[in-house]
Amino acid sequence: RKYNVVVTRQLPEAGQILLQDASDIEFVQWTEDRPCDRDWLLQHAKGASGILLMLTEKVNEELINAAGPQLKVIASFSVGTDHVDRSILKSHNIRLGYTPTALTDACADLAVMLTLMSQRRGGESLRKVLDGQWPQMPWSPLLLAGPPIRGATVGFLGFGRIAQATLKRLLPFGIARALYLTSRPRERAREHYIGLLDGSGIPVEPAQDWREVARESDVVIVGCALTPQTKHLVGPEFLATMKKRAVLVNIARGPIVDTDALVKALEEEQIFGAGLDVVENEPNIPADHALLKQERCILVPHIGSANTETREQMATESVRNLLAGLRGENMVNEVVL
Ligand code: GLV
Ligand code: GLV
Repeated sequence: RKYNVVVTRQLPEAGQILLQDASDIEFVQWTEDRPCDRDWLLQHAKGASGILLMLTEKVNEELINAAGPQLKVIASFSVGTDHVDRSILKSHNIRLGYTPTALTDACADLAVMLTLMSQRRGGESLRKVLDGQWPQMPWSPLLLAGPPIRGATVGFLGFGRIAQATLKRLLPFGIARALYLTSRPRERAREHYIGLLDGSGIPVEPAQDWREVARESDVVIVGCALTPQTKHLVGPEFLATMKKRAVLVNIARGPIVDTDALVKALEEEQIFGAGLDVVENEPNIPADHALLKQERCILVPHIGSANTETREQMATESVRNLLAGLRGENMVNEVVL
């Protein structure tokens, strides 16, 4: 017996091979290099036992109903699952696979890149050179100077795998202290993270609340999941509480940061700068978007996990999750619904 499966993108090679080698599935696949059309997905989901999809595809009642009662598994090629209505899956006994471990290092690397670029005005510097301004801007003692990473207090909103990996990378830069806010119960969190910084000698402390993170940090790194509780967590009040010399880095999900409030904070120099891998309403960011007018804002197009090996690994992991879900076996990583 073969399981019908839908795959919403061409996968990096290793994943594609795994898919083709699985003898117990029959799959249809979207082949264009852009997110699949919704109609195509709804149509092909009918009768499918498994769907391997990207964060660009919403998993909601519409899709589950279109598929039908034989649907057993959704395998998402992502760490984030905010595109998935978990309660619908739970009520239909559908398993959900994701790829949280594959991309930890890649995303942490990007968080460091955005931190340093924001502090050292990388985007602004590049822009000036590309605009031909360097001739009018000879070397000078405070040209494009920014705050140092040495001695910084780094505050994390969310302290999961990626945030912890980011913290490890920042230690050799000589940061002074780390604070984190997590939805995990305080005591458990402490116990869980206590071994993390063995030997570094710097304090790593749970914050009382977001205010403490905003008030104390020289670098705020957003690494939490998008939930109703974290939507616009970084809004006008948060930004007004931050230090004028602090930078904000978002490598999680766009809607956690209120874009209008961020534009205003940058305009009014309430904060020093921002480095964003994600933004509300991405990818619909036209060239005249207010954020892009802010020289102190660096915006890159959701490339956190974009190193080739990571993407290969995410592909093989999501295929393994898909197959395990169909066969009733253990997934590499499964969301507990
Ligand atoms: C990327 O944002 C992911 O969730 O994998
Ligand atoms: C900078 O290039 C310096 O020589 O200080």
